[in-house]
Amino acid sequence: MTATESWIALCRLDELEGDGMFPFEVGEQRVAIYQLAGKIYATDNVCSHAFALLTDGWLDGNLVECPLHGAQFDVATGEVARGPADCAVATFATRIREGLVEVKLPDRS
Ligand code: FES
Repeated sequence: MTATESWIALCRLDELEGDGMFPFEVGEQRVAIYQLAGKIYATDNVCSHAFALLTDGWLDGNLVECPLHGAQFDVATGEVARGPADCAVATFATRIREGLVEVKLPDRS
């Protein structure tokens, strides 16, 4: 069986105040939205190392740093830039449609 995905609207683009990180929940899926220099990225908001929300950490350019043990992830690719995490975080496609920030998430059913 092939997993399907759906575009989900999270917020209005003008609700994202400047560059930074913004947490959202869609059902049980926690999503981190990053606005960087006019571009929007999305990753799983839960660190791949243990349980911490990446949006509670720090953003340095395109790297997000986990607040618990300091792992860093590239927000565009989800790849680990610094341990102790050794697995990437999931990334999600984003788009702006009619002023809304939308993210493509796997369907849960
Ligand atoms: S929970 Fe994120 S680095 Fe450990």
